[in-house]
Amino acid sequence: MCGIVGYAGRRPATPFILEGLKRLEYRGYDSAGIAVAESGGIHRRRAAGKLVNLEAVLKKSPLSGIVALGHTRWATHGKPSEENAHPHCDCSGELVVIHNGIIENYIEIKERLAQAGHKFASDTDTEVAAHLIEEKLKGLYRPGATPGFAEPALFEAVRLALGEVKGAYALAVLWAKAPDVIISAKTASPLIIGLGEGENFLASDVPAFLAHTRRVVFLEDGEMAVVKADDCRFFSLAGKRLDKAPVTIQWDRTMAEKGGYRHFMLKEIHEQPAACEDTLRGRFFPLRDGVLQREAGISVAALKTVRQFHIVACGTAYHAGLVGKYWLEEATGVPTHAETASEFRYRKSTLSKDDLVIAISQSGETADTLAAVRSAKEKGAKVLSICNTVGAAIPRVADHNLYTHCGPELGVASTKAFIGQMSALAIFTMHAALARGTLSEPGARELVDQLVRLPGDIRAVLKLDPQILDIAGKFHKKGHFLFIGRGLNYPIALEGALKLKEISYVHAEGYAAGEMKHGPIAIIDEDVSVVAIATRAKTYDKMASNCQEAKARGAQVIALVTEGAPPLPGADYQIQLPPVPELLSPIVNVVPLQLFAYHIADLRGCDVDQPRNLAKSVTVE
Ligand code: AGP
Repeated sequence: MCGIVGYAGRRPATPFILEGLKRLEYRGYDSAGIAVAESGGIHRRRAAGKLVNLEAVLKKSPLSGIVALGHTRWATHGKPSEENAHPHCDCSGELVVIHNGIIENYIEIKERLAQAGHKFASDTDTEVAAHLIEEKLKGLYRPGATPGFAEPALFEAVRLALGEVKGAYALAVLWAKAPDVIISAKTASPLIIGLGEGENFLASDVPAFLAHTRRVVFLEDGEMAVVKADDCRFFSLAGKRLDKAPVTIQWDRTMAEKGGYRHFMLKEIHEQPAACEDTLRGRFFPLRDGVLQREAGISVAALKTVRQFHIVACGTAYHAGLVGKYWLEEATGVPTHAETASEFRYRKSTLSKDDLVIAISQSGETADTLAAVRSAKEKGAKVLSICNTVGAAIPRVADHNLYTHCGPELGVASTKAFIGQMSALAIFTMHAALARGTLSEPGARELVDQLVRLPGDIRAVLKLDPQILDIAGKFHKKGHFLFIGRGLNYPIALEGALKLKEISYVHAEGYAAGEMKHGPIAIIDEDVSVVAIATRAKTYDKMASNCQEAKARGAQVIALVTEGAPPLPGADYQIQLPPVPELLSPIVNVVPLQLFAYHIADLRGCDVDQPRNLAKSVTVE
C-alpha cells in the first residue's frame, strides 16, 4: 500500500509533493522519493526510512521544477532501501515511474528486457515498468522528432506497456521529453485526480491534495489520465477518450485519511477483500515447482522432507496459526503444532532440523515471536515467516518469507492482517500439499476456484453490516459473552472473543463448543450471551445442540449460519452468511464477528483504534 503523489502546475512542485506524501503517512512506508522535470531533464532524490530523510536530502540538494512525482514505498518486493525506493527510471534516466500495486509477471518481462540489453538497478517490479515503457518508445519516438510528438508517443508507450502487465497498479510516468505532462493509469490500486486552478494533482488518496482542491476524479480500473497544469484528459486503456465528471469531496482531512470511515479499524475491515485478493494474487500458478520457491525460497524438495510443522505466533496471528494447523494436517498429513510464541520460547521443544517453523506476525516485531524464531533456529529448524512488513525483525531473521500484502494495519485490533495471514497460509498449504503429492492438480485447481471467490464472499458479508449493527445495539450493554465453534471455526471463536474484549473491554471467552459440557455450561444463565459459529459443517448438528443447551439455560444466542439453512432452534438471532466450503469458512466467518465487536465497542464509546493498555506491536515481553 504505497503512497503516490503527482503535481503539474505553475508553482514549485516539491512542497506539494512533500506535503502530499506526509498526508499519506497513514499508508505506511519504509522509503520515499521524488522526481522533478527541470532544466530539460528528470532529477530524482530518494531516501530509505522516514520522510524526514528525504526532506534532509532535498535540503542539501533542492529541486525547483513545476511538474513532479513523489512516492512512499511500503515494500512488497525487495527490501526497503534507497535503491529500491521509487521513482524508478529507465536506462536513459530521463523517464521515471512511480507505482502502487504488484506486477505479477515482472520476472518474465525483466528477463526479456535484460536480454534486449536493459540494465536494472533494483529488485523491484516497478523498475521493470520504466524499462518496458522505454522499450515501447523506441518504436514510437525518434530522437530529434518535434517536441509535440513526445506526449502522444509517451501516452501510447504507456498504454502498450500496460497491455503486457498482469497484476495491480496505480502508476504515473514522467519523461524529460514531455516535461509538462504526467501519464497515469489505474487497475486494482487506487488513483485519484485532483482538479485545481492552473494546477492539477494525482494521488493514491484524497488527503494528499485536499488542502488545495476538493474537486476530484476517481479513476476506475482500466482507465488512464493525462495530467497537465491546465488540462486533464481521461482515456480507457484501449485509448478511447472518456468523459469523467468530477465529484466534490465533503470530508475533512481526518475523515479522508480514514477513507470516510469513522475509524481505521472499520476501514481496515472493509479493506479485507483487497487484503485477501492482494495476498493471493499471482501465487496460484505454476502448480508445480514454482510459487514457494519464487516467493519464499522454499524448494519442493524441502517441502517433501519436512517432518513436522510448528506454527508460532501471538494473539490474532496465533488464531490464524490454529487455522493453518487444521489446513496443513488436513491437506498434507504432516503433524502440525500451533503454539503461542510466549509458551514456545520457554518450553523444551522437540524441534529438529527436519522441522519447519512458521512464524506469523503482522508487524514482524513481536518480541515473543522473534524470540521463538531465534530459539527454533538455535535448534536447527528452518523458519518461514508470514509477515505484513517487509524488512521487519522477524523476516530478517527467518530463513524464508511469504509476505501478506495487506498494506499497513493501523487499528490496534488486527483485522485485515488476519485475513491476509489465512490467505498466505492457504497458499502455503496448497503448494506444500502439491509438493508432497497429497493434493492432485485437479484438486488444486478446484481449490483455486474457491479461493478466488473469497474476496467476493467477504464483500457479501460486509453488506450485512446494518443487521450486525442492529444486533450489536441489543447486546452492547451485556457483560459476558461466550463464543463457541468447532473444528476450523474453533480458532474463529477465539478470535471473535479476542476482538470483542480488546476493543470494548467486555468479558468474552472463546471455547471449543464440544467442551461446553465439560464445565463452561455451568456459567450460562440470562447474564451470558452466546455467539455460536454454526455455518454449514460436518458438526452442524452438534452446534445446533449447543445453541439449544445454551438457550435452555437462559442465554441469548446469536448464531452465524449459512444462507438457506433451516432456522436454527435455540438461536435468537441468525446472521446468514454466503455458502463457502467448510475448509475456507474461517476466512468468511470472522468478518461478522469483527463488525459485531467494532459496533459494540463504538456504542460503548470506547477508543476503537487505540484501546486502553494495548499497543499495535508488542515489542517487549
Ligand atoms: C490482535 O487484535 C492484537 N492486536 C494482538 O493480539 C496481535 O495480533 C498480536 O500482538 C500479534 O501481533 P503481530 O501479528 O504483529 O505479531
